[in-house]
Amino acid sequence: MITIAPSILASDFLNLQTEIEAFDGNSNLWFHLDIMDGHYVPNLTFGQTVVKNISKVTSHKLDAHFMVNNPEDYISSFKDIGIYNFTFHWESVTHHDSLISEIKKHYPSVGIALNPGTDITVIPEYIFKEIDLILIMSVNPGFGGQSFIPSSLEKIKYLKSIKEKFNLNFQIQVDGGINDQNAPSLIKAGATNLVAGSYIFKNNSNEYPKKVESLRK
Ligand code: DX5
Ligand code: ZN
Repeated sequence: MITIAPSILASDFLNLQTEIEAFDGNSNLWFHLDIMDGHYVPNLTFGQTVVKNISKVTSHKLDAHFMVNNPEDYISSFKDIGIYNFTFHWESVTHHDSLISEIKKHYPSVGIALNPGTDITVIPEYIFKEIDLILIMSVNPGFGGQSFIPSSLEKIKYLKSIKEKFNLNFQIQVDGGINDQNAPSLIKAGATNLVAGSYIFKNNSNEYPKKVESLRK
């Protein structure tokens, strides 16, 4: 089943616990946590204290998307607070192999994110065997509520072909501008994990579960 990852960047931060608990009845759901440093992207979000408190009020997996310079500096400060998946941006790192190994020591799942302007072929094929998830950014990182960039579809198709070629099982996650109109084409192309912020959170909280399910159809 397709995993849906509500992006709490779009949630009501003054009522975060209620926002999180609104998804208690959904299954195959991750909470997508955008960690921004104000340098790699021109925006700041939240840190360990907020993540740790979210983990206390949900049993859903926590998916941390680090839009930061020097992601290696965050491995130890964010460990042991309930994060399941640690995704870093390919573009922000020089020594990818050692970073992946280091993340694996402390987190069950490791992901690589790629910006819209980065060609998918920059990732050497052997790397796909080392990771659990590839995040295709379908907007430029930093802000919610932007429009989906259609060229992302070609990257998803390429990743699906890599999975088939090497018989691999990594998740293909897509992030940015996702709604019930474009989700079917993403799933058809090979996406297995859809992040959605404003599409879900612009509604009343009693509608969140239904909005999640509408993305799987
Ligand atoms: C953007 C973030 C996204 C964002 C998606 O930099 O990585 O996770 O919250 O928000 P929507 O779904 O509103 O585009
Ligand atoms: Zn994100």
